Amino acid sequence: MKHLVSSWCNDRSLPESYILPPEKRPGKLTVPLANNIPVIDLGGHDQTDIIQQIFEASQEFGFFQVINHGVPSNIMDEAMSVFKEFHALSGKDKAIETSKDPNKSCFIYTSSANYETEKFHLWRDALIHHCNPLEKCIQFWPEQPPRYREVVGPYTAEVRKLGFRILEFISQGLGISLGGLVGIQTLVVNHYPPCPDPSLTLGLGKHMDPVFINILLQSDVHGLQVFKDEEWIGVEPIPNAFVVNIGYPLQIISNGKLKGAEHRVVTNSNVARTTASYFLSPSNETLIEPVKSLVDASHPALYKSLPYKDFLIKYVAASTDSKALEEALSTTV
Ligand code: OGA
Ligand code: NI
Repeated sequence: MKHLVSSWCNDRSLPESYILPPEKRPGKLTVPLANNIPVIDLGGHDQTDIIQQIFEASQEFGFFQVINHGVPSNIMDEAMSVFKEFHALSGKDKAIETSKDPNKSCFIYTSSANYETEKFHLWRDALIHHCNPLEKCIQFWPEQPPRYREVVGPYTAEVRKLGFRILEFISQGLGISLGGLVGIQTLVVNHYPPCPDPSLTLGLGKHMDPVFINILLQSDVHGLQVFKDEEWIGVEPIPNAFVVNIGYPLQIISNGKLKGAEHRVVTNSNVARTTASYFLSPSNETLIEPVKSLVDASHPALYKSLPYKDFLIKYVAASTDSKALEEALSTTV
């Protein structure tokens, strides 16, 4: 993969194709830290209280962090080491290690899925693969670094459990059952090398995730920002925490009650940042529509109904333009 940022970034200044138009540049790189993004302790016994906290955070921010979540810290640390080791392999090895599935459920890419056609590139490489069912997917995962499967297998099993637990809390808050609607679960291991000029480019542009929820392992390096009340706020790395965010399909299903939060990633010039997103997505045939119990005469359905696979087509067509997406999905625009 000759284009991977990590293959050439040490030898060059920021190429022109990475320079964003002025209105899309990150502007101030030091934004206020979001000391107000809720940190929810999942270790407590008061389930009603946990459900309430998750529901409120999902309504107000669409983002929260979880601690005492049950995923052992050594499993998280080992997974992060292996993710970093993977991105430190040569470009050739990364290409070899991600071409084991002819159906391409595991691959590596750079910038976005539209590298060839996009107007400008993003400062990011990403490894992506499916995680369920594990016995079927794992044969397509990298075998370099040699511990990859042995470490990432148990990691994804733990994060899956956590993800379903959080989805169950959200289900109870909404009064519908989401667990049975989950289809594909994917891991995306993002890598943002040190960048020669972080003020001109981004690791990931402003976007909402097209999934139910994302369980993000953020390393100890700042970079993730959330758009709230017309302002960017930084998500502080907390040791051993996971960052959880609500995706657009849940905003629709909750008829706008829960917020699919927009977020982005800024780069920095000193250290590489590696993160891992575990996406829990609806199955292709799941109807993405406001749940009936949240729709009545005074709360009309804000969104059209469509199967998840069609939602995805509209999501890709809008290409991170949230206004265009809202127009394509809303009943009122
Ligand atoms: C994503 C994402 C955030 C990060 O993978 O969709 O928003 O900090 N990642 O890497
Ligand atoms: Ni995201």
